[in-house]
Amino acid sequence: MFVKIKDILAGKYPDGEEVQVGGWVVKNRSSGKIVFTVIRDSSGEIQVTTKKGNVCDDALREADALSLEASTIIKGKVRTDPRAPGGRELVATDVKIVGASRDYPIFGEGHNPEVLLDLRHLHIRSKELVAIMKVKDSVLSSCREWFRASGFYEVTPPIIMSSSCEGGSTLFELKYFDEKAYLSQSAQLYLESLIFGLEKVYSVTPSFRAEKSRTTRHLAEYWHIEGEMAWVGLYEMIDMLEQLVSYVCNKTAEERHEELRMLGSDPEYFKNLKPPFPRITYDEAVKILQADGFDFKWGDDFGTHEERQLSMHYDKPLFITEYPLEVKAFYMKDAGNAKVLNVDMIAPRGFGEIIGGSERETDLALLEERIRKQGEDPAKYGWYLDLRRYGSVPHSGFGMGAERLVRWICNQEHIRDTIPYPRTISRFNP
Ligand code: 4AD
Ligand code: MG
Repeated sequence: MFVKIKDILAGKYPDGEEVQVGGWVVKNRSSGKIVFTVIRDSSGEIQVTTKKGNVCDDALREADALSLEASTIIKGKVRTDPRAPGGRELVATDVKIVGASRDYPIFGEGHNPEVLLDLRHLHIRSKELVAIMKVKDSVLSSCREWFRASGFYEVTPPIIMSSSCEGGSTLFELKYFDEKAYLSQSAQLYLESLIFGLEKVYSVTPSFRAEKSRTTRHLAEYWHIEGEMAWVGLYEMIDMLEQLVSYVCNKTAEERHEELRMLGSDPEYFKNLKPPFPRITYDEAVKILQADGFDFKWGDDFGTHEERQLSMHYDKPLFITEYPLEVKAFYMKDAGNAKVLNVDMIAPRGFGEIIGGSERETDLALLEERIRKQGEDPAKYGWYLDLRRYGSVPHSGFGMGAERLVRWICNQEHIRDTIPYPRTISRFNP
């Protein structure tokens, strides 16, 4: 049926061969007797020249009438032409309009971002957003490759929950028949239950956070890549995380070199990113911040500014371990010194936290006490606490925000462009 534009540009078809392409109009310029059209499909863009004499009058009229974002089927002969963008063009032998497009509302540069977000259902075809979606596809599939090759099973945890995993302040509530339920913030607690049969599990699910602040790195709905492993301690998990992140960056940069360049990222950096990544403790991080003149006291959690400052000292992702117990979630294992056995991975150049993980607390009494301290009733976590009653084992797990990772790899200012339809405090439409 249709050939792909990328294959024409790559020389898969010799000059003079007639091919058929289905695509959308990027540009059209006509002088009546000759029409120059640029069309795109999912693989690339190519110039089409339609000349009176080469095609019937109907086809010439159709070519002449092609307008921005109209869909079209073009038959044409491949021709090498160094002046054409990409080095090859199609000399049309037939042109048909499939779906007309009148007054396409996104034309030229310099649109207000809010207007583009209102038009997201159309803007989603733009070169930049398409490139980012291709990168995301590579990121997600290379994550899955890594997990499978490392002995993990993919599982499908629930999204509707009866209790919180990451604290009540960012929970989305919903009416569940006659009861109250919540949208998942994390699959973690369920993944913990699944390690008893499968040992190493992972999931890729939407997570929901009712984030009240407007930032360039928070979404209300994001895709969460989470792993959980039996018999694995914190430091062994960190070794695995640097393998995972390197693999995903290397593979994505290999597959999406052109897209990353076009987006203003540096594919060579991501292609060559290798373990080991630097590791510091929370205590060391506090000292670095204080030496840099930050008014930061031990016991606080790092915010955007602190993470940015810390990441400026390294050109690789940075692991920060052992945060104060007080600021972290109830399930993180008590290290015995007012700290927990946790890790955050902070991306370089100010891109901030990409991974949060920890070894899990296995002591039933300690867990109950920490749940109570968070102002919640341990009875609500009955099933979770059962996991500590029946064959508990040391285990660790982590969560990685797919959009945070894609934002860093694509060098994007704003996280909203790493998801087709961003949901934020001020938007859930279209
Ligand atoms: O650090 P978080 O809150 O950790 C958890 O949810 C753990 N239960 C995960 C686990 O151990 N299974 O979230 C994990 C990651 C963050 O590091 C960040 O990349 C991403 O999820 N994330 C967000 N991404 C986009 N928008 C938001 N509002 C996000 N909140 C967290
Ligand atoms: Mg976190």
